[in-house]
Amino acid sequence: MTSLDALSRLEKLDAVINPAQRAVRGLPLGRLRDVLHGLPIGHPLHPVLVQIPMGAWLSAAVLDVVPGAGRNARLLVGLGVLSAAPAALAGWVDWAEQHEDQMRTGLVHAASVAAAIGLYAGSWVHRGRGRTALGKALGFAGLCAAGTGGMLGGHLAFRQAAGANKAEPVPHLLEEGWHPVGRVEDFPVGEAVRRELGEVPLLVIREPGGRIHVLAERCSHLSGPLSDGKIADGCVECPWHGSIFRLSDGANIRGPATAPQPSFQVRLDDDGTVHVRLPSAG
Ligand code: FES
Repeated sequence: MTSLDALSRLEKLDAVINPAQRAVRGLPLGRLRDVLHGLPIGHPLHPVLVQIPMGAWLSAAVLDVVPGAGRNARLLVGLGVLSAAPAALAGWVDWAEQHEDQMRTGLVHAASVAAAIGLYAGSWVHRGRGRTALGKALGFAGLCAAGTGGMLGGHLAFRQAAGANKAEPVPHLLEEGWHPVGRVEDFPVGEAVRRELGEVPLLVIREPGGRIHVLAERCSHLSGPLSDGKIADGCVECPWHGSIFRLSDGANIRGPATAPQPSFQVRLDDDGTVHVRLPSAG
């Protein structure tokens, strides 16, 4: 276990995590919450927004060693502080819908970034008052804090897979072509039924009109069991964090999931056997 892995075991952080999660979930963001998750672009928005403050602060650090560039450096420091706000909001909204071990690492990540923002805000103020050396020192300290935050963000994204599409492996675990999954009477009308196709769990739902829908059963957000979810209005709602997927094509119509569920084609044989096929399999 690395020292970064150890962060995810820091149970003492839970005393802060629980009220903070309630507070973030309680923010009246409406549909903006899904935009902040990144649902319209199909992956998390937070890493995209982070590019602006990080780019501004790195550029300011370069200008700090260029003679006569103090005014522009201060401008970039200020831009970084302002643009950190939407990036942080997107990060908090994602954070509030993660596993507890991810949330512990995420809290330390957020603390590092908050320190960076504070240091850069101080840097901007002191530069404006003519205390350039102190402003530069605070800026370089801010860059260290932001870099630490960035490293923790990378650990969260790649080691702990926060924000990754958990349904991505599905096509690679399946053989091409049609596969039987049971007989039509095995699927009671309106009930969510779980079936295994090789290593891939499936969610099978037969509508009152007889149409059968089949999706990958593990939620693309964090692998929640969709067969335990609520079925309503042609959709299934994940029981873990409330993502909603359309049964007919797997489209995610509410986050935090930013990726759709793999959706299977369905064929019913004359003898009542249900076959499924994932077009992208293999
Ligand atoms: S696992 Fe989080 S919404 Fe499904």
